[in-house]
Amino acid sequence: MAQPTFSTHVGMVDILPDEVGKWQKLERIIHEEAKRFNFEEVRTPIMEQTELIARGVGQLTDIVSKEMFAFERGDDQYVLRPECTAPVARSFVEHHLDQRGGTQNLYYIGPMFRAEKPQKGRQRQFHQFGAEVIGADDPAADVDIIAFMMAIYDRVGISNTTLKINSVGDPESRKAYTEALKDYFRPNLDEMSEISKRRFEKNPLRILDSKEEEDQPFIEDAPVITDFLTEETAAHYEKVKSLLDSLEISYEEDPHLVRGLDYYTRTAFELISPDLGAQDALGGGGRYDLLIEEIGGRHTPAVGFAAGMERLLIACEELDIQLQEEEMLDVYIVTLGEDAREWGVQHLPKLRNAGLSASMDYIGRSMKAQMKDADRENARHTIIVGSHELNEGKFTLRNMKESEEEAYPFEEILNKLTT
Ligand code: HAM
Repeated sequence: MAQPTFSTHVGMVDILPDEVGKWQKLERIIHEEAKRFNFEEVRTPIMEQTELIARGVGQLTDIVSKEMFAFERGDDQYVLRPECTAPVARSFVEHHLDQRGGTQNLYYIGPMFRAEKPQKGRQRQFHQFGAEVIGADDPAADVDIIAFMMAIYDRVGISNTTLKINSVGDPESRKAYTEALKDYFRPNLDEMSEISKRRFEKNPLRILDSKEEEDQPFIEDAPVITDFLTEETAAHYEKVKSLLDSLEISYEEDPHLVRGLDYYTRTAFELISPDLGAQDALGGGGRYDLLIEEIGGRHTPAVGFAAGMERLLIACEELDIQLQEEEMLDVYIVTLGEDAREWGVQHLPKLRNAGLSASMDYIGRSMKAQMKDADRENARHTIIVGSHELNEGKFTLRNMKESEEEAYPFEEILNKLTT
């Protein structure tokens, strides 16, 4: 076979027809759960202004400093969105969605782009579903977001997960905590990784997220932010936890949980799966009370989550969960000869208009090859048409599973197949 001339970019994959069924099923589940939780879908462009992402996600994050697919065109700076919270916040501000009244419960499904080193569960184009509650300060909103996220995994049948939560504080608590962290790490810095040394100056909280071996003993005993929370933030966190308890959503507190995006304030969470390997986060999110102001809107508290669809599908595979439903074709018209083909062309629309899925051969294959094709297409029935059938005005309807057949006029076939 000739070598293909072109291929997808590294870390970007085609979702082929044989796999698309599970994606469609997952998307259906997300839409249905969104309806139950009263979330409305929003679709934003896949490209945004680079400045929005830089300001929203944070200049010092890996996403902005290392992983952006960005380019210029004329005077404009474009970036392929690495996530959808800043875009949804932009859309909220740009279109004054607050004027619709109440909180805005929004959700999305779509591709995101990060120039990361690809590995299992980590791609450069990947897909997220996510949701944002914009305009609510109440811990009930945090818990609703978590419950919505968990409901989707429940529906899919993934239950072997751990919800980790933390409070990353407000700017006041974070300032005090950052100082304490720096005081703690400073004497040990020489023994720590290069990446942590760099983070020490710019973003010491991110040291807690280090995967480097030599950092682990220091991270283990590092001070925890929950000791530095202001009274109000601590009370908010307590309420989130007590609501989770009352709804019997189990969680583990992880006082060193910090997220890879800078906009978080107060609640932060991640959903971890042991079935994923190194990239073990199914999803994550938290509160971002200052983001909307940061990008030019009025002070508007908000909370949300996003989850990786590829990772969810990997977990399904590991757990032997079949999302894909068997696709069946209602009718395949098998034709013998030119007149029969003409009949087929005329009658396909009649079947389809009656709500049936229907197909036929277009390339003049033998009857045997057409029957094989009908099998491959998982046809429930075939209608076999040759010159004899055309003369009689009766066509052979074959039930493929039962291997039974009988001849009827077309109207009767239609009747049988639709009742
Ligand atoms: P995030 O933690 O950066 O959060 O991404 C959420 C999820 O997207 C991850 O847990 C993971 O499942 C998936 N993901 C991220 N990067 C990749 C990748 N390169 N390949 C495959 N899957 C990936 C956010 O994006 C925030 N916007 C979440 C949020 C919404 N916070 C508030 N609202």
